[in-house]
Amino acid sequence: MLTGKRILVTGVVTTDSIAWAVAERAQLYNAEVILTTFDRVRDLTVAAACALPRRPEILTLDATRREDYDRLRADLGDRRLDGALHAIAFAPREALAGDFLAAGDEAIELAFRTSTTSYARLAGLLASQCGDTGASLVGLDFDADGRAWPVYNWMGVCKVALQSTMRYVARDVGAGGVRANLVSAGPLQTRAAGGIPDFQTLLDAYEAAPLGWDPTDAGPVADTVCFLLSDMGRAITGEVIHVDGGYHALAAPGVQIPDGLEVR
Ligand SMILES: NC(=O)c1ccc[n+]([C@@H]2O[C@H](COP(=O)([O-])OP(=O)(O)OC[C@H]3O[C@@H](n4cnc5c(N)ncnc54)[C@H](O)[C@@H]3O)[C@@H](O)[C@H]2O)c1
Repeated sequence: MLTGKRILVTGVVTTDSIAWAVAERAQLYNAEVILTTFDRVRDLTVAAACALPRRPEILTLDATRREDYDRLRADLGDRRLDGALHAIAFAPREALAGDFLAAGDEAIELAFRTSTTSYARLAGLLASQCGDTGASLVGLDFDADGRAWPVYNWMGVCKVALQSTMRYVARDVGAGGVRANLVSAGPLQTRAAGGIPDFQTLLDAYEAAPLGWDPTDAGPVADTVCFLLSDMGRAITGEVIHVDGGYHALAAPGVQIPDGLEVR
């Protein structure tokens, strides 16, 4: 599915990372995968990369630093990119749970710069590195409807803004043959998820998903990302695809019709 394609994969920090599952699948579909990491987690990325089917090159990108995108461009040189995965999110704890109104400006701004603006920066890099055949950028969303959960707080706001960012990006890079999409994933047990206080509340809610939902299996999300990275998704841009066992389709998840209710 990805033979001959070179894909830049951000966000691998452990073998549980959604990005790791994407890198693994992409290699199995014959892509050349290049990972990015940054100083704080470099050793963890290197360790996780060793578990991939083929040892990938690992370049540097701190998504909050403009100069890192230029350095990444220089590191890539004249190598063409056919696609990129944006799998980057971070928010300080005060922005993730507790009193929504009390979160500080710096925490909110850092969450936004790391998790949302970076999608547009990565799109710029991809647009400048892709050849005449275009490229595909895929990012990762949670709960594309932007509902207010018991936790998640400002990260929820960042994710809704990520959707809007993705649509503006899709508008502007389409003429160059670059596609921009998001996959909205159900909750998965990753390192980032472990930083969300009371993440179990989200997991419990997804028990109502029509197809069920396995929070330990990023495979279905990774396969959909690979589809969007491939030529099979060539006419899709500006889209959010839900991979959540169908949870998003429910109006009142978990609500049962009481026993004995007469239906006439
Ligand atoms: N785990 C879930 O339940 C879930 C559900 C839907 C969407 N997502 C999204 O999937 C993406 C990947 O998260 P994950 O759950 O696989 O967790 P993860 O912890 O494995 O990945 C998050 C990644 O973000 C990277 N990151 C943080 N700050 C960065 C920075 N300044 N520069 C570069 N990279 C930085 C981390 O190094 C890490 O690799 C995120 O966008 C997340 O919001 C996760």
